[in-house]
Amino acid sequence: MGAGIVEVFARNGIPVVAVEISEAALERGRAHLTGSTDRAVARGKLAEADRDALLGRVTFAVGLDALRSVDLVVEAVPERLDLKRRLFAELDRICRPEAILATNTSSLSVTEIAVATTRPAQVIGLHFFNPAPVMKLVEVVRTVVTSADVVADVEALCGRLGKVDVTIGDRAGFIANALLFGYLNQAIGMYEARYASREDIDAAMKLGCGLPMGPLALLDLIGLDTAYEILETMYRRGGRDRRHAPVPLLRQMVTAGLLGRKSGRGFYTYERPGSAKLVPDEHTPNPADGAGREIAKVGVVGTGPLAAGLAEHLAKAGYQVVPATADVLAPLADVDLVVEAVDDEPYAKTAVLAGLDEVCQPGVVLATTTSTLPVIELAMATGRPADVVGLHFFGPDAAGPLVEIVRTIRTSAQTTDTARALSAALGRTGVVCGDRAGFIVNALLFPYLNDAVRMLEAGYSTVEDIDHAMKLGCGCPSGPFELLRTVGLEVALTIQRRLYQESREPGLAPAPLLEQLVTAHAEV
Ligand code: 3HC
Repeated sequence: MGAGIVEVFARNGIPVVAVEISEAALERGRAHLTGSTDRAVARGKLAEADRDALLGRVTFAVGLDALRSVDLVVEAVPERLDLKRRLFAELDRICRPEAILATNTSSLSVTEIAVATTRPAQVIGLHFFNPAPVMKLVEVVRTVVTSADVVADVEALCGRLGKVDVTIGDRAGFIANALLFGYLNQAIGMYEARYASREDIDAAMKLGCGLPMGPLALLDLIGLDTAYEILETMYRRGGRDRRHAPVPLLRQMVTAGLLGRKSGRGFYTYERPGSAKLVPDEHTPNPADGAGREIAKVGVVGTGPLAAGLAEHLAKAGYQVVPATADVLAPLADVDLVVEAVDDEPYAKTAVLAGLDEVCQPGVVLATTTSTLPVIELAMATGRPADVVGLHFFGPDAAGPLVEIVRTIRTSAQTTDTARALSAALGRTGVVCGDRAGFIVNALLFPYLNDAVRMLEAGYSTVEDIDHAMKLGCGCPSGPFELLRTVGLEVALTIQRRLYQESREPGLAPAPLLEQLVTAHAEV
């Protein structure tokens, strides 16, 4: 993070003194900087002369004495309050009285850091996002004592750095981490519980929400030790929301030295420490495993856009498609697989599943497209729950690139394999998950949206700044409020209620503001 911040300043013509605690640490930082700038040259993004000029603006030094004459210090040491407070007290002693002291803390109290100095009015949060040279956002955190001039100067500086700033108060996790880390922790919980594989959790969020990276790959980028510290702080400072209590697996991984990209291994394995290049390991799925049953003829039940879309996609993929309605299932007597896409309503779905059980040959895979009902309830309407699987397509006509394949506690491995093979034949990525409310995507997405509404409700920030922060800090294609407008507040509330009802997790209770907006038919 420190090396990335150095690069941001030097790229924008500002001389930087890069300070580390030891020669070895300094060398690592220098290697980061040269690695990043060399890559930019190799990709044709930076001229060689500009790279040399950039590096020429950086002075490397061990020890804080080198900071005597600087105008601004940005601290990016590990995320521990005692360490940061000690460092700021030292900086206060060494730096010029006019110098601004900024912390890149992700979640610690800027106020507590500021009061370790004799100049709290000149202490501010300047929170960059990883990778710092790429992510456009900087969160400027003002405490109750930060002077208005210092805030204005730092905001102007962000402009010079080509960054977009949002200025906010001193609250755990600020905007972006406060919304991001509950989601990341929940994804670790899914992985720990073997609810879905790491590849499937990540693919689901990339393809289902258009995110640049899945949550587990992002944790590897952030660093699992950093993530652990942030979650700990968020839990303590942020109202002891259990969703921020680090999932035990995270602590085990940190203890075992699996810190993410920087150590060469985290949730995934990398070519070498510091590399972004994935290499296969013992958890990497083998595409040759589990081909499933041979499928040639597919029945599609339903008359709506989902059924029509599915029939079209299946026919294009080379399957022989037999359409049927909920009332007349007889044409499905000799198909290999059936996808039912009738109304997502328990009576209609149960009746269709029971009807299919009567009509279809033994061994036929029965897929239901529910997005809200427990698949096991539908499976138990048949006498063959091992052959029943959920298929959650995205988009009203199943045009999205993702399919969630929901296996119940009774679904056979062969049925799941068949569903995965069918998804692949349709040109979709199939991700397999357990039979819980929201499957993968909705279970991870909607609590995050609900948290954004809570943040707005608490008056911490505005709709625009929250949207900005998530787009520019985390590469989300749209902000949470833009997404809520697209999905519809009523749909969001229904899904959130279901997640809450199933989990009874207090933090998942719908935000009162969301309830009120829906009641009032208002927009956000
Ligand atoms: N350092 C410098 N530049 C980097 C980089 C790095 N570590 N990684 C990628 N880049 C550059 C590449 O050189 C490339 O530049 P170019 O477009 O000028 O050629 C550009 O970023 C895109 O990189 P790639 O093509 O290799 O890869 P992607 O398109 O997949 O993008 C990514 C990589 C920018 C990391 C993207 O996946 C992303 O936006 N991910 C989300 C990151 C995120 O959420 N960050 C926030 C984490 S939370 C945080 O930092 C807060 C803290 O408190 C924990």
